Amino acid sequence: MDFESTSEISLPKDPLKRVIGQEEAVSISRIVARQKRHLLLVGAPGTGKSMIARAIASILPPPSQEVSVLHNLERPERPILSIRNNELLAREKKQKQKEWGKVLSPLEVPEFVSEKLGFRCKRCGESSSPRALYCQSCGADKHPRRDSPFGDLLPNSETPEAGRVHAVRMDDEGEGEPIIYERTDKDKIRQLTYAEFKQRSASNAKKLRKVIVPLGRPSFVQVVGNNETELLGDVRHDPYGSHPEIGTPPYLRVTAGAIHEAHEGVLYVDEMTTLGEAQRYLLTAMQEKKFLITGRNPSSAGSTVRVEEVPSDFILVGSMNINDLPSLSPALRSRIRGSGYELVLNTFMDDTEANQEKMAQFVAQEISMDSRIPHAASEAVEAILEESRRLCRATENRSGLTLRLRNLSGIIKLAGDLSAIEEAELIEKTHIKKAIKKAKSAEEQLEDKYDNMWSAGMADYGSRARQGPETA
Ligand SMILES: Nc1ncnc2c1ncn2[C@@H]1O[C@H](COP(=O)(O)OP(=O)(O)O)[C@@H](O)[C@H]1O
Ligand SMILES: [Mg+2]
Repeated sequence: MDFESTSEISLPKDPLKRVIGQEEAVSISRIVARQKRHLLLVGAPGTGKSMIARAIASILPPPSQEVSVLHNLERPERPILSIRNNELLAREKKQKQKEWGKVLSPLEVPEFVSEKLGFRCKRCGESSSPRALYCQSCGADKHPRRDSPFGDLLPNSETPEAGRVHAVRMDDEGEGEPIIYERTDKDKIRQLTYAEFKQRSASNAKKLRKVIVPLGRPSFVQVVGNNETELLGDVRHDPYGSHPEIGTPPYLRVTAGAIHEAHEGVLYVDEMTTLGEAQRYLLTAMQEKKFLITGRNPSSAGSTVRVEEVPSDFILVGSMNINDLPSLSPALRSRIRGSGYELVLNTFMDDTEANQEKMAQFVAQEISMDSRIPHAASEAVEAILEESRRLCRATENRSGLTLRLRNLSGIIKLAGDLSAIEEAELIEKTHIKKAIKKAKSAEEQLEDKYDNMWSAGMADYGSRARQGPETA
């Protein structure tokens, strides 16, 4: 090893370059990300399936669409789908920030307006902040109503609390035009024509919107298991249904599923076959690139609500064990192969110098990701290589370096903890050795205790037989 500790190893910035020993999977992953294909990763646990899926997501461009539902006034149980891209959203944001009407100083508006809005003093005519209780120049009470014992209870359009004054402006032809004056929160006065006033109200009313898939979402969505509502979305039940006064309007009860949240990103289905029946829906979503959201519980008020064609244009990355291949839906599998790749991950690599270096990079990566453990001395890395060889012989029945890296990752972390407890500067060979002993799997521990698995099983069987039939 041409380093003293793993701190000298520089780690690649490209997340796919951090995946070691799976060269083919890595090059295919780049194609998958660029061409928006699907990918089925078949392989043993701990060989990097999840890691590859995350890496693909991280090299995708960030999502550019936001998906929301709008209240449908005529048919509340059919909320209106609205898709806005980032340019439109940026424009709308600007519009919102845009000042409506004209902002004026108290001296630029008619005196009675300035007085009613609490700027102008009735006695001396000087202006001061409407929040001041007394005129700043003559000391007169600016809010005389307070003198009445019930002043605070009486509605009074003349106090600044009203905040808005309606007036009529005469133009040259003697036509009256309604004008609205308002106090701004910066002690200025906003002047709006009636048209502007109406426009602003309409723009505020557009807020009957629920964003179900936000623009700033992660590009990686993982599903495990066969929870249909999690996968496909749902419309929550409301005991008051769509009762206009006390119920929650349907559009607010719509929630997106993983297939929608993964729109423009990666949908990672770990253990594909655990999806069961839901594989069918997944297939439809992949074909149509959109999928309806409705209440999944037929007896719930949510099941009468539907939002059609909610976008679900994702890259599917599925993972599974080789043994589970037969239980994968053939239609789904052919869909993936028709527009994507199927790939078996390596479980070992040759014991070459280049691959030993990769293993050292792996050790450095694991350490830097953990952040609570010190770097490893080069002898410790040698010990990991030794263990990698041993595991390869034990599981693959041949020489090489194992790529079932989760096991090794566990040993590195354990060794790191041991050295951290000792306040050692580096992870040393002795830490690795101790960790290997501790990290043995239940089977290996049994093997040590009973020579081999067969007699361990028999011993257990024998003791159970003595205890009588199982009750569980
Ligand atoms: N090929 C690999 N290259 C680098 N690290 C790996 C690799 N495979 C596994 N690891 C390490 O082991 C951990 C578990 O791997 P993971 O991707 O979850 O395996 P899988 O999903 O195949 O069971 C990863 O987070 C990573 O730290
Ligand atoms: Mg995994």
